[in-house]
Amino acid sequence: MAALTVSGSVRVPGDKSISHRALILAALAAGKSRVRGILHAADVRSTSGVLRALGADLPELSSDFGVTGRGLRSLAPPKCVLDCGNSGTTARLVAGVAAAYPFASRFDGDESLSRRPMRRVARPLAAMGARVDLAAGGTLPMTIEGAKLASLEWSTESASAQVKSAVLLAGLVAGVEVTVREPVPSRDHTERMLAARGIDVRADGAVVTLRPAGPLQACDVAVPADPSSAAFLAAFAALADGGEVELPDLCLNPTRTGFLRALARMGARVTFGDERDQGGEVVGSLFVAPAGLRGIAVGGAEVPSLIDELPLLACVASRAEGETVITGAAELRVKESDRIAAVVANLRAVGAAAEELPDGLRVAGGAGRLRGEVRTFGDHRIAMAFGVLGALPGNEIRVDDRECVGVSYPDFWLDLNRLSSA
Ligand code: S3P
Repeated sequence: MAALTVSGSVRVPGDKSISHRALILAALAAGKSRVRGILHAADVRSTSGVLRALGADLPELSSDFGVTGRGLRSLAPPKCVLDCGNSGTTARLVAGVAAAYPFASRFDGDESLSRRPMRRVARPLAAMGARVDLAAGGTLPMTIEGAKLASLEWSTESASAQVKSAVLLAGLVAGVEVTVREPVPSRDHTERMLAARGIDVRADGAVVTLRPAGPLQACDVAVPADPSSAAFLAAFAALADGGEVELPDLCLNPTRTGFLRALARMGARVTFGDERDQGGEVVGSLFVAPAGLRGIAVGGAEVPSLIDELPLLACVASRAEGETVITGAAELRVKESDRIAAVVANLRAVGAAAEELPDGLRVAGGAGRLRGEVRTFGDHRIAMAFGVLGALPGNEIRVDDRECVGVSYPDFWLDLNRLSSA
């Protein structure tokens, strides 16, 4: 089998979580915010479309643009259904904003989003005083009749930055104090970005409190590269036979870098450079070089920090020595697809050994060639995870829907190819 040497430096696109929040906060701020490096992908376009339908004055997305926000109370009743496409972050975060306005908003989405649970966000917003109607299964379409909201202390059943952010945004727009308690801390971009805009948000472990006072200040933001997109290229580098890749300008927020810690635990050479603060986020360069990988156990409090990367971790584990066991990750079943079922079925379809657990999966490592057809179920991260395996020498993997990467990383296939042909 030909050896794979990787080289080069790829600046992956802007962070998806920060991009959604940059748009929402720019629309609600008092004054002009400049946004650089936003992710141009379908999910972020869903957020801009929904905010425009709510009356926000957002220009076409480009690599550098200004937004003139008209303040926390400036949104208007939508004249159409709010189409969130494939994006759970759009539906859940904007639901928090809409709940604080005295009008009705109806949220809908594509087939995948229409299967995902919305009660988790409906319940706290209803407890604050909004009226929230869902389809019978607790899914979209969701109609929110906003109201004058009351203060809230809420405990979430599982760590969810989307639910936490919905409550924080509802408190922000309504001008009431809110506290969210999570079993373990989820990603904290909303808190960091609100603090950078003059809002009093304090975190104590997994408890976050927002006390509103004063306007949301406009703020310039340079969106760092997305660690969840970089993870695919990092995995490819770790699985190569030689070389090293650089992934610069990456968001290295510790609530997002669990995959890199896990990859290092498996034996990959993972190092960082040029670390700096950028708008309240740690940003820096990541360097990854291959090494013999061994199976690991992943679970417990680290799960939220690598939740979106677990399909990829399972694919990497299929090339390691020994077994990898992932537990405590039942949330994977309610992502863009049932990612536990999708990963296990696809690993088996290409000749690897894996089995489902109720809250995770078990993968047996190996070195045999992988061949077969992968079904993405329209899920971008399934396409990219198996795309990495398919790009390794000797493997022949056909991904049924390569285009679905457009949700988060439209140039993924080009960038993957660049690393092995640089
Ligand atoms: C996100 C939070 C996570 C993550 C999703 C993006 C966010 O979802 O899986 O891709 O930007 O807040 P949950 O809040 O459901 O855990």
